[in-house]
Amino acid sequence: DKGEFRHYMLKEIYEQPKVIKATMEGRVTDSRVLEQALGTGAADLLANVRHVQIIACGTSYHAGMVARYWIEELAGIACSVEVASEYRYRKHVIQPDTLFLCISQSGETADTLAALRQAKQAGFRAALAICNVPGSSLVRESDLVIMTHAGPEIGVASTKAFTTQLVSLLIFTLALARHNGLSEAREADIVAALRQLPGQIDDALALDGKIAELSKAFMDKNHSLFLGRGAMYPVAMEGALKLKEISYIHAEAYPAGELKHGPLALVDSEMPVVTVAPNNELLEKLKSNLEEVRARGGELFVFADGDAELQEQPGIHVLQIPAVHAITAPIVYTLPLQLLSYHVAVLKGTDVDQPRNLAKSVTVE
Ligand code: F6R
Repeated sequence: DKGEFRHYMLKEIYEQPKVIKATMEGRVTDSRVLEQALGTGAADLLANVRHVQIIACGTSYHAGMVARYWIEELAGIACSVEVASEYRYRKHVIQPDTLFLCISQSGETADTLAALRQAKQAGFRAALAICNVPGSSLVRESDLVIMTHAGPEIGVASTKAFTTQLVSLLIFTLALARHNGLSEAREADIVAALRQLPGQIDDALALDGKIAELSKAFMDKNHSLFLGRGAMYPVAMEGALKLKEISYIHAEAYPAGELKHGPLALVDSEMPVVTVAPNNELLEKLKSNLEEVRARGGELFVFADGDAELQEQPGIHVLQIPAVHAITAPIVYTLPLQLLSYHVAVLKGTDVDQPRNLAKSVTVE
């Protein structure tokens, strides 16, 4: 039931404060992650992990890409991320003491399951699943499970599953990092940031009207570029995937630093460039990338921290996002990009909940 909403996708976007809260429930206190909530024996397992291999497809893969930044930064443990359909068809090396982490909303994605089954033959320390469907094949075949409590996701384009995957991945990262030198103070700081998420996402949802306004600029465009740096790069990838899936506008994501190495040649007034720019240490670098785009006549849409001191000017649209913790910023900045793709699709009159050629669950390869 869509209730007051015109589409399931919009309803699911608006459910995010609630389902993020549900996903944290019973797993974090005011200052700590409750490791036992990850399953019996989780502490012993995590204490011995030396490498994390993440496998997923589509949006779930983007969640894994964000997690890599967290795992290497907070736990200091090497992490590899790969799409399941590539991993399963190549000769791969599994490092000793690898935790094999599959991320899947449905838990039935054929390639992800095949990668897990193959890796089992090769041997790893344990398999952890991050999944939204209890009793799914992925859940049944994994040693540890963190269920995302997103509830049923009807819209083919994944929204609330993604942000609850991110919350689960951050909780997992903190549990892992605790065995690898993360201080109690830093853990408490990040847990506090997690607990602020529902409120911050409400604030991001309040930008809906402004985003609907911005979306008009995309209606007659055929191409777009999404830029981000650090953990915001996978957020840009996810924003681009949403736009192409439901509005059928070609959207490509690039790490902002790669701009000069090719994509800048594409930039002209017909190529809107979307950038996610929280106020982190990479902001100054990102600003000079924006100048490069501006100098070529590209129209910029910047989602930025108010402190970033980016001014609205001809050709640069700035949407201020309330200040957020650097670690949880990828979760909050996902929201405006979901809303942008939604509004562009509505303006174009596409089938938002059932985009052409796509299925919700890809159980065949
Ligand atoms: C994108 C989308 C797909 C899925 C992908 C993996 O909006 O929904 O890219 O993310 O098919 O599906 P799961 O997570 O069920 O394995």
